[in-house]
Amino acid sequence: MDRMRRLRASETLRSMVRENHVRVEELIYPVFVTAGTGICHPVDSMPGICQYSIDRLGEELDRVVAAGVPSVLLFGIPDCKDDVGSGAYDENGIIQQTVRWMKKEEKYSGLLVVADVCLCEYTSHGHCGLIRDGEILNDETLPLLAKTAVSYARAGADIIAPSDMMDKRVGVIRRALDENGFLNIPILAYSAKFASSFYGPFREAAHSAPGFGDRKTYQMDPANGREALREVEEDILEGADMIIAKPAMAYMDIICEISRNYNIPVVAYNVSGEYSMIKAAAAQGWIDEKKIVMELLTGFKRSGAKMIITYHALEAAGWLREENGADWRKHGDQV
Ligand code: PBG
Repeated sequence: MDRMRRLRASETLRSMVRENHVRVEELIYPVFVTAGTGICHPVDSMPGICQYSIDRLGEELDRVVAAGVPSVLLFGIPDCKDDVGSGAYDENGIIQQTVRWMKKEEKYSGLLVVADVCLCEYTSHGHCGLIRDGEILNDETLPLLAKTAVSYARAGADIIAPSDMMDKRVGVIRRALDENGFLNIPILAYSAKFASSFYGPFREAAHSAPGFGDRKTYQMDPANGREALREVEEDILEGADMIIAKPAMAYMDIICEISRNYNIPVVAYNVSGEYSMIKAAAAQGWIDEKKIVMELLTGFKRSGAKMIITYHALEAAGWLREENGADWRKHGDQV
C-alpha cells in the first residue's frame, strides 16, 4: 500500500530523496557602488545593505569572498545625472571604475562580475530610456544601452545584464558586443521584468525612482504570464544566454513556465521589497529568518530557477556552510 510518510521517517532518508537544493555556487549578490570616498551608507529600507564608495567596497567584497558567493551584480550611483544618462556610458563612470579596480585586485578578480545595464540610475528624470514630450523613447535609447554594455565589457565585466525593458535591446547589445570583440561575454537578460511595487526599496538604494509617472509603458503588467513567455522568446532569438524572471516571490509561476518551455538557464531575482519584508518581520521576531529564507530560496529552485539573485546571499551562504559542517560532524560521529 502506498504510504507517503515512509520516506519521511528520518532526516537521513529525507535528505536522500530531497529533490532540490540551494547551492552557494548559484547565488548572485547585488552590490551598490556610489561615487565619492569614505562612504558606507546603510539603505534604511534594506537592513544589512549599504552603498559603498570604491575605496570602501573591499569591506563588502571581503565578505562576499569569505562567504564563497561567486558573483556580484553591480549597480552604480553616479555623482551627477543628466537627461541622457551619460554617466552610464562614461568610460570613467562609477561602474567602469569599479570593475577595472576589481579586476586588478587579486582578491576580487575571480568574482564573476555581472553589470546591470540601464539608464535609470543615471538619468535626471529616473526613467530607463530617453524622453521626448513625456514619452519614453525605445529605438533612440538602444544605442546608449549598447554603448553602456560595451564600455562595461571593456572595463572587464564578465556578464552583461540589461534591465531597461526597451524592445530589441538584447539584439542591439549582442551585435555591439560582438563588433567590439566581446563575442564571449554572455547576456543575462531581464526578460520577464514586471512593473512591480516590490522594487520600492531598491529605488531608495539606487536613487532611481522615476521623477514622473511610472514604468508601466516598458515593464510588464503583473497580470500577464503568457506575454512573459513572448518576451523570453524574443530575447532568446536576439541572443540572450540566460533569462531573469523578476520579481520572484509573487512570480514563481513565471519562473516555472520559462524553465519548462525553454532550454536556457533561468535566474530568479529575489528583489528588494521581498528582502525588506522578511527583514522587517524577522526584526519583530515574528518569523524565523533563516528558515524562511532557506524555504524561499528552495522554492525558487523547485519552481525551476537555476540561479538566484538575492540580497540574502551572504547570510544564506553562511547558513548553508553551517549545515554542511553539521553534516560532516554527524558522519564523523558515526565512524
Ligand atoms: C533598474 C533596476 C531595478 C531593479 C533592478 N534593476 C529597478 C527598477 O526597474 O525600477 C530592481 C531590483 C530590486 O528591487 O531589488 N532598472
